[in-house]
Amino acid sequence: MIAIIGGSSLSQLPGLAITHRQVVRTPYGEPSCALTFGLLAGRTVVFLARHGHGHMHAPHEINYRANLWALKSQQVRHVLAIGSVGGIHLGLAPGALAIPDQLLDYTWGRKHTFFEGPESPVVHVDFTQPYSATLRQCLLDGAQHAGVEALDGGTYACTQGPRLETAAEIARLRRDGADMVGMTGMPEAALARELDMEYACLAVVANYAAGCGDSIGKVDFTAAGAVMGEAMDKVARVLEASLAL
Ligand code: HPA
Repeated sequence: MIAIIGGSSLSQLPGLAITHRQVVRTPYGEPSCALTFGLLAGRTVVFLARHGHGHMHAPHEINYRANLWALKSQQVRHVLAIGSVGGIHLGLAPGALAIPDQLLDYTWGRKHTFFEGPESPVVHVDFTQPYSATLRQCLLDGAQHAGVEALDGGTYACTQGPRLETAAEIARLRRDGADMVGMTGMPEAALARELDMEYACLAVVANYAAGCGDSIGKVDFTAAGAVMGEAMDKVARVLEASLAL
C-alpha cells in the first residue's frame, strides 16, 4: 500500500476515486485527520492531509508519530510526502518542484522518535540517506513521463516555524548546504525510517526564502497562494504518472 501525505496546499488529492475514510486511533494520540482510501492511476492509495482538514495543525503542532503510526497500521510500505518549501537555491523559483536527496534538521521540541520511554529498546536507525532511492526514482520517472520539470536532488532544511526565517538564518542554512527550507520534513522522514517505511519527498517551492530572489525585503506569502494553486496541478500529474509506472 502507498500513502500520500499532502501538505498545506494539498488537503485533498485531485483524481483520487475515494472508496472510504477511516479514523485510526494510535498509542501516540490522534492523527491529523481520518485516512482517505481510494484509487489513483489504478493503484490503491491512502491519503493523509498533514495539517488536517481546513489547515488546523501548524507544523510544530502536527502529531507526526500518530500520522506515521496510523499509516503503518494500514500496511503502508511506501510514503510519498508533499511539502511546500522556500527556495534557497536560485534555480528553485516559486512554482518549481524538487525531489530532495538530503536533509538538515533544525527543529526542536517535537516528538521525534518511537524509541523512548522505559518500555522501549534503545535503537539508532541508520539515516545516512534519509530518502528512499527507489521512491525518489519513481517520482523522477513520473515527472519525466508527465512532462513536468523537477530538480533531482537537493538538501531540504527543516525549520521549526511557524514563523518564517530571518535573512541571516537563511544565509546560514545556505552555508550549511541547504537548497530549500520547509517546516514539516522532520521528524516525518525519520519516523518513517523508524517504522521501516520507504519515504520520499516532493517539494513544491511556494516562495523564495527570506533574503533570496525577490524575497529581499520581505517574503510575499500572499503571492505564494496563487503560485501553489498552479504548482499543485503539476504535483497531481507527477503523482498519477509515478503511480501508473
Ligand atoms: N520557510 C520555511 N518553510 C516554508 C517556506 C519558507 O520560506 N515557504 C514554504 N514553506
